[in-house]
Amino acid sequence: MAFTLQPAVKDDFIDREEILAEMLSTLEDKSTRMGFALVGPRRIGKTSILKEVVRRLEGEKGIVPVYFSLWDLVENTLPELCTRITLAIIEGFKPHLSLKLKMKQLLKVPVLKFFDVLRSLDIKLSLFDEIEIALKKGESGEIDPNTLIEKVFLFGEEIAKENGVRFILVLDEFPSIMDVKNKKKLGEGIIKKIRTIHEGLENTILCISGSIRKTMEITTLSPSSAFYRQFLIKNIEPFDLEATRKIFEKNLYAKISTEAINRLHELTGGMPFYLQLLGRELGRFSAASIGSPQIENSFDQFLLQEGDILFAEQIKSFSDKEKIILSRMACYGLKTPAEIQKSSGEPSNVISRYMEYFLSKGVLQREKKGVYQFTDPVFKEWLKRRLSRQICRL
Ligand SMILES: Nc1ncnc2c1ncn2[C@@H]1O[C@H](COP(=O)(O)OP(=O)(O)OP(=O)(O)O)[C@@H](O)[C@H]1O
Ligand SMILES: [Mg+2]
Repeated sequence: MAFTLQPAVKDDFIDREEILAEMLSTLEDKSTRMGFALVGPRRIGKTSILKEVVRRLEGEKGIVPVYFSLWDLVENTLPELCTRITLAIIEGFKPHLSLKLKMKQLLKVPVLKFFDVLRSLDIKLSLFDEIEIALKKGESGEIDPNTLIEKVFLFGEEIAKENGVRFILVLDEFPSIMDVKNKKKLGEGIIKKIRTIHEGLENTILCISGSIRKTMEITTLSPSSAFYRQFLIKNIEPFDLEATRKIFEKNLYAKISTEAINRLHELTGGMPFYLQLLGRELGRFSAASIGSPQIENSFDQFLLQEGDILFAEQIKSFSDKEKIILSRMACYGLKTPAEIQKSSGEPSNVISRYMEYFLSKGVLQREKKGVYQFTDPVFKEWLKRRLSRQICRL
């Protein structure tokens, strides 16, 4: 066993037994068509849960699970989206089809050629032709994106019906579908369209995830959202202390003290990604047992060496003023608009706007009314040290 920075599945997957059990029993239950929406900040473990659910459902009689991440798109265009989902569906149904060609080979085929290749295979589905025609028309702007997306969903539905199975379609980072371009971004309309299509499907169960609470609100959470009450919503929380202990006991060769586990949990807030990263870092120590000094040392090293790379993109997306506000919040533990106003001198309506923006970016979350906290405790610590470094240089 080893620490990993990839989504954790199979032997690497720790804990989360409750949510796994609930998802599996619901998705296997033929009397319900409810899917799940996983909501949680970045690096909390959404993809791991989705992939583990798919893995455990694979091979189940009467069920075909298919995983697709919107973040796997390269060009982020509508034809790419439609082709890639279609391919993922074919891949998922492979045991039910007699395919001779390797999927990897198919992926290399240019978008519009790929249906020619498929036709040479032994799949007799009229919807293939429909998607192909729609894609070609889509390229020339003759067909609207909604129709094209509909064809793809109907393709999955049809193939499931033909084979008499429940088709579980897992779309990771679902709200990013709004950023897919067909000349311009598809926007919120596409979510509404998918909801309408989805309502008419009998064999397809949709499961989704999203990292930014604000975009998930547009999609599923708020009463005005397209998918309101259409999913069983699960907020994914960080690991509890017990799960934190498990991840180290399982993967670390050296013995680790209870005190050290507690400190690791405190520093990372139980976010599995950081636990994996620190675990890897701790692996460098040859000590037979690991205690608090090694933890502090590893955390310092990690922030110094990897923090800048890890958080570069996030910090670049903020204006200078936003950076100052966030850094002050991190450094001085400011949590309320009044405290921030006092520290920064900005008027309160400006601060409120900033808070809304930080919430929409997922960098802050509401602890309770009027009280804000960092979603990611490690990002907060990095900001704090970064500001101290800058002050020292002055
Ligand atoms: N149940 C788990 N057991 C062990 N490690 C986990 C678990 N869940 C997540 N991790 C680890 O945490 C990290 C992030 O996991 P994952 O990619 O699943 O999260 P995510 O919420 O999908 O993140 P992102 O926002 O980057 O998509 C990975 O290094 C993964 O190995
Ligand atoms: Mg993910």
